[in-house]
Amino acid sequence: MCGIMGYIGKKDGYPIVIEGLKKLEYRGYDSAGVAIMNGSLSLYKKQGKVRELENYIHTQKTNGNIALGHTRWATHGEPNDTNAHPHLSETGRIALVHNGIIENYATLKSFLTSKGYTFKSDTDSEVLVQYIAWYQSTYSLDLNEAVRRALGDVEGTYAIVVLDTLKPNGVIVAKKDNPLVFGLNEGEFYIASDASPISNFTQEVIYLKDGTYAELFDNGTYEVYDLEKKSIDPELTTIQSSKDNYSLDGYDSYMLKEIHEQAQTLEANMEQRIDLEEGEIRIPEIDEHKRIFNSANKIILLGCGTSWHAALIGKYIIESLCDIPVEVDYASEFRYRNPIIRENDIVIPISQSGETADTLAALKLANEKGAFTYSLVNTVGSTIARNSDIVSYLKVGVEIGVASTKAFTAQVNLLTMMALKIARIKGTIELSKYKEIINCLDALPGLVEKTLECNKLVKIIAENYYKRDHALFLGRGLNFPVALEGALKLKEISYIHAEGYPAAEMKHGPIALIDEQMPVFVIATNRSIIQKLISNVQEIKSRKGEVIVLKEEGQEFPNDLASYAIEIPKTHELLSPVLASIPLQLFSYHAAKLRGCNVDQPRNLAKSVTVE
Ligand code: G6P
Repeated sequence: MCGIMGYIGKKDGYPIVIEGLKKLEYRGYDSAGVAIMNGSLSLYKKQGKVRELENYIHTQKTNGNIALGHTRWATHGEPNDTNAHPHLSETGRIALVHNGIIENYATLKSFLTSKGYTFKSDTDSEVLVQYIAWYQSTYSLDLNEAVRRALGDVEGTYAIVVLDTLKPNGVIVAKKDNPLVFGLNEGEFYIASDASPISNFTQEVIYLKDGTYAELFDNGTYEVYDLEKKSIDPELTTIQSSKDNYSLDGYDSYMLKEIHEQAQTLEANMEQRIDLEEGEIRIPEIDEHKRIFNSANKIILLGCGTSWHAALIGKYIIESLCDIPVEVDYASEFRYRNPIIRENDIVIPISQSGETADTLAALKLANEKGAFTYSLVNTVGSTIARNSDIVSYLKVGVEIGVASTKAFTAQVNLLTMMALKIARIKGTIELSKYKEIINCLDALPGLVEKTLECNKLVKIIAENYYKRDHALFLGRGLNFPVALEGALKLKEISYIHAEGYPAAEMKHGPIALIDEQMPVFVIATNRSIIQKLISNVQEIKSRKGEVIVLKEEGQEFPNDLASYAIEIPKTHELLSPVLASIPLQLFSYHAAKLRGCNVDQPRNLAKSVTVE
């Protein structure tokens, strides 16, 4: 969702900000804009991509030592040039970029309207900048004080950067429940929604805490305050210089590149965690809290979207290895009821970005209720990681395609390693089985490479079905979440309506949908209940449904039941979801391409969902 990038110092800010916005593109957005300060303020805003903004600005003057940039994912008001950020106060004196939602914007707007203010856009963010301006002009305040007082009246969430064009030697940055970080270098500051656009300039950063703000000056000095204006000693964090590779490496999209990277990303995910010589899983953060894991009563897995699907697979694996009951909840549901958390319960939020607003809020609730919190996150130093008792990172590098692929398989893999580790601590797994699964994990990246060989066949299947309006995905046991994920992938990037169902539930409703127009993907790698699954497929076939089956190499499956059979390599049954997901990722990619969709940035979707 919205991305913020800012620069203040001695250099020209515009190129830095534009490059930063490109690194934040993965978050998902529909318009972009920049404000550049050089004596006077130049403002450029455009619906569409950062590239279009760049082309639009191409012939304009862009020098200036303060620049604010923004990519907007529309909440209040449609995506267009006017609603794009930065927004200005009515007189043009104050400029602001904002990520979040001002929930009481309607009240503030009618108050301002009664004072004679008019508005150009439909956004809540313009209300905020006007409200700051109202404080400033009514009480003759400097920007610092006007922002402080305005934020005291605001309900909602925000990460903002604000600039006073009459005092152009500094900016104010503030944050509540939306991410914001600034990097310090000699005489300059880099401000962004996450550290990725900053880490190549400086490794010293401050993650602003909720309910605090800072004033940054162009001579390199700064001060951080709480909303009572008490000075705060901020915590300096050293980040790694980014090794992330933002190039497409010859692929036509990040999604395709990320699908093909999965052998390497799983290797990275397992590096230093699998000790083949000793036949052990090494997760030091679990070892340091052995007692807590040994006496865990219950594990609660939380996530949104694809991460929630990983959690569903995790439940299956943990329960089968660790003898601990596991609950899985959508983070957005968990936080709005009274989740029962007792002593010795462990809450595990799962998140690629580490910034998803609902997952973060659920984590904070779990912390308040006294749970031990252990997050599984990809983005190093993200808010969820920083707010958890312990964290294990996915280590798959930046994921840019909005539809999660390599992060999903790494989440499932990490959950498997975690379950093995806990089972070993609790003594709920036989040593031979433990070692067998570790060996299978070690072989998994090779099997991923082999699975990717199905690409040609999957493309043919996509060519056959991409014009259909609906699709069904069926699985049983730990393949039910794989079916859910296959359906989600297809709908999010190709806009084909798709549903995932437990295969045996078909006869309780969805079977009514089956006709010759309905392709049905059946994930059939479960050896233990294959006969039952075959019976479910018979029921579909009898009603003229077209079946595409995913099965293990060499596995028997009646030839006449499926129009296509995709074979995936044999592995331990608990690891098969990782392999089975890959043909489904490829199918949604090909179907979306054939339908002319933008696979990396599907309509209406954002990668990092920082509003609730
Ligand atoms: C968005 C993304 C999904 C992702 C979900 C949860 O909807 O488009 O790909 O699964 O958010 O994100 P998280 O970063 O918490 O895993």
